[in-house]
Amino acid sequence: FGTMIYDPGYYNTAVCKSQITYIDGDQGILEYRGYSIEDLAANSSFVEVAYLLIFGSLPSSNQLNLWNSKIMNHTFIHENLIQLMKSFRYDAHPMGMLISSMSAMSTFYPEANPALKGADIYKNKALMNKQIFRILGKLPTIAACAYRHRIGRPYNNPTNTLSYTENFLYMLDRLSETNYKPHPVLTRALDKLFIIHADHELNCSTATMRQIASTLVDPYSAVAGAASALYGPLHGGANEAVLRMLEQIGSVENIPSFLEAVKQKKQRLMGFGHRVYKSYDPRAKILKEVTQEVFALLGKNPLMEIATELERHALTDRYFIDRQLYPNVDFYSGIIYKTMGFPTDMFPVLFSIPRAAGWLAHWVEELSDADLRIFRPRQIYLGKRGEKYIPLENRV
Ligand code: CMC
Repeated sequence: FGTMIYDPGYYNTAVCKSQITYIDGDQGILEYRGYSIEDLAANSSFVEVAYLLIFGSLPSSNQLNLWNSKIMNHTFIHENLIQLMKSFRYDAHPMGMLISSMSAMSTFYPEANPALKGADIYKNKALMNKQIFRILGKLPTIAACAYRHRIGRPYNNPTNTLSYTENFLYMLDRLSETNYKPHPVLTRALDKLFIIHADHELNCSTATMRQIASTLVDPYSAVAGAASALYGPLHGGANEAVLRMLEQIGSVENIPSFLEAVKQKKQRLMGFGHRVYKSYDPRAKILKEVTQEVFALLGKNPLMEIATELERHALTDRYFIDRQLYPNVDFYSGIIYKTMGFPTDMFPVLFSIPRAAGWLAHWVEELSDADLRIFRPRQIYLGKRGEKYIPLENRV
């Protein structure tokens, strides 16, 4: 232990070797399996990108059809899980419902539980794939049920003939049995949003996924843990926090006083800053384009003016320049979701659905890694030693 390094927040610690996602934080480059995020967002569907992340190459059209149908065949959730979701309070945060439901899923699929079946089950690729189909298939259904619960409407069943994102929007919005179909512009916008959120190497939730999975627990429990990490306002909860911040700022005139409070460290500028990107986040650029596509259909969101002005002020201010703080993926995503009609507390849920593809890619990679060991960091102990025990009656 003489060589132990103190590294709070893991600024400089690599805990795995990976071939999934490449980030160059200085150049603002993001690639999944070697493909640029710009190319993937422009040309692929989210389901195709999920295949790429998990299996390492772009699918042929036969592979894509099979992969898509396997996922879509697992979109229905168990009736008991529906009962569980219905037992939440009417105003339960949808993210709390998603985390709990995912955790509960570990009890529905004991075939994936090494505690019952033995750790060797993870040598079986077909069994692992089945859990992947289930998690990717059921997450949008759980998310849609959480949303319907929140707005006090009956849950909708999935429609497996629709695309992944189309079916998700359908489950959220469908009001009757008539031929309701989500708008193709919104479906494509959501698909792009899902693509750019799908993976981001060892962000906090993915590191959590790998840490939990290193114990060989079932993937449902690991995904529930990863989703809990994502829920925090410094990670995937930031999109929700950005929206609340923009609403709190209220108008462009209030921006200078708000930024003054940030500089005095009374609050953070949410949606700004990143551990790895020290230049413009490439995902924020794509998001700006998607914003325009959604605005062209639904009209401009008034919060956009505050957001663009806030960005302009921050990018020309010494405090932010010196610390290399730029807008991250969460800065504009919330405005798009809000314009599409999502309530603010659904935002981290909308982040979790696509990020599950990344979590699962890392799960597969980790379990096939010959170097895999249980994650067990060390500490630097600064507490007392050798204290003399005082019986309760003698303590003051
Ligand atoms: N507003 C104001 N100051 C900031 C911000 C911010 N958003 N982010 C960093 N700083 C300052 C920080 O106070 C520190 O200043 P000083 O050197 O004077 O102490 C300096 O910049 C370095 O910050 P840090 O906290 O050491 O950086 P980190 O790598 O530990 O944190 C972060 C990264 C993303 C948690 C942080 O930038 C932050 O809290 N941002 C706001 C929340 C946010 O938008 N999170 C989403 C991240 S991207 C997507 C995701 O992961 O989900």
